[in-house]
Amino acid sequence: MDQIRVRGGRPLTGDIRISGSKNAALPLMAASLLTDQTLTLTNLPHLNDITTMAGLLAQHGVDIVLNGGSEAGGHTDGQGGRVLELTAGKLASSRAPYDLVRKMRAGVLVLGPLVARAGEAEVSLPGGCAIGTRPVDLHLKGLEQLGATIELQDGYIHARAPHGLTGAEIVFPTVSVGATENLMMAAVLAKGETRLVNAAREPEIADLAACLIRMGAAITGLGSDTLVIYGVDRLHGARHAVIPDRIEAGTYAMAAAITDGHLNLVGAKPEHLRAVLEALAQAGVEISETNRGLSVKRANGRLSGVDVMTEPFPGFPTDLQAQMMALMATAEGASMITESIFENRFMHVPELMRMGANINVHGASALVRGQAGLTGAPVMATDLRASVSLVLAGLVAEGETLVSRVYHLDRGYELIEEKLSACGADIERISD
Ligand code: EPZ
Repeated sequence: MDQIRVRGGRPLTGDIRISGSKNAALPLMAASLLTDQTLTLTNLPHLNDITTMAGLLAQHGVDIVLNGGSEAGGHTDGQGGRVLELTAGKLASSRAPYDLVRKMRAGVLVLGPLVARAGEAEVSLPGGCAIGTRPVDLHLKGLEQLGATIELQDGYIHARAPHGLTGAEIVFPTVSVGATENLMMAAVLAKGETRLVNAAREPEIADLAACLIRMGAAITGLGSDTLVIYGVDRLHGARHAVIPDRIEAGTYAMAAAITDGHLNLVGAKPEHLRAVLEALAQAGVEISETNRGLSVKRANGRLSGVDVMTEPFPGFPTDLQAQMMALMATAEGASMITESIFENRFMHVPELMRMGANINVHGASALVRGQAGLTGAPVMATDLRASVSLVLAGLVAEGETLVSRVYHLDRGYELIEEKLSACGADIERISD
């Protein structure tokens, strides 16, 4: 298995182009199941999760063409992103198998579109994962409210609505990104009006809604916590550009801060990162909005500790919690980092401690006492964001850090070694 070797101590300077968002792209790809016409997505990142979703859709019968059929990139979108044409002319199967959904939980996002389009779906229950139990009960309850019958059998969700779905008011007891996406996709072809109340407000949700509207859906309330969907008989093809990845942008903002460098994050959207930029500014990071994106550097000397709690958007995202902890591990003073979304998202703590970080976890909170320096070590982590937090720590640590299980990084960070080394990092991939 590949490893990444980082030798720390070099300030990063230069430009980093922010790729298309993984977490926006995955539901957008699933939306292709809702029409027999072609959905063209541009600004797609080249990531393993995207390939896994493409594999899942292909076995449902979706015809997929990448970059106009030229893998070499002849037909990219001209800005470094990939172009995917997805055509679900005739569905070959409405079964999403365990092997694929287990690999990538976002596979469960085919459930809503399949029931809406085909009147039935069998989708493997994703099971737990490294960051928590992550149930899908809200997805299932919502589908039932739209008139589907749901049975759980042999590890599979069997959902049926042979006469179609019917609009309803669905009030989410807790905010869920995936359930909001799945039910919005189910509701666009339902009869009548659906109201999703206490819906997630993440930018990826508004991006999905914008694409569905381009495909002929009628949705109002974009960006708010109440989405109203007026069902239509059919959707048609469309072309849609995926939004830039706010989590990648936040990660590289922290890379600039942790190395005392200066990065221009090209294409980053500040309105997607307000809570993060506020926390960074409080810690002593100078951030300016430019016409190309964001410029990030330290204001003056060492950073200071700040308290952070993860929350649904517009709060501080859980997907940047591990990276923030790496940053705070090198700040002056203490910070309290509280994880309120997932119950087990501190796997990076023991690894950061192996690099000299001083962190105490009490339940959902971690008390980080900043250290003047970290030291390189062999480390590994069990999820994507935890892994990248170790790369950030490695960029500033003295000596060599060897990060194992790089496949986690490849799920969510496009060309990470290339992007960082182009800005001066001493980082390389060691392949077996
Ligand atoms: C999305 O996951 C993201 N994944 C995650 O990114 C992200 O961490 C998460 O949202 C929160 O922002 C994708 O977009 C593909 P949720 P999702 O449903 O949709 C509980 C990354 O690193 N819950 O908003 O699965 C759940 O257990 C990943 O890129 C229920 O209880 O997250 C969690 O505690 C990791 N029942 C909370 O809600 C349900 O039916 C929020 O989960 C659904 C969720």
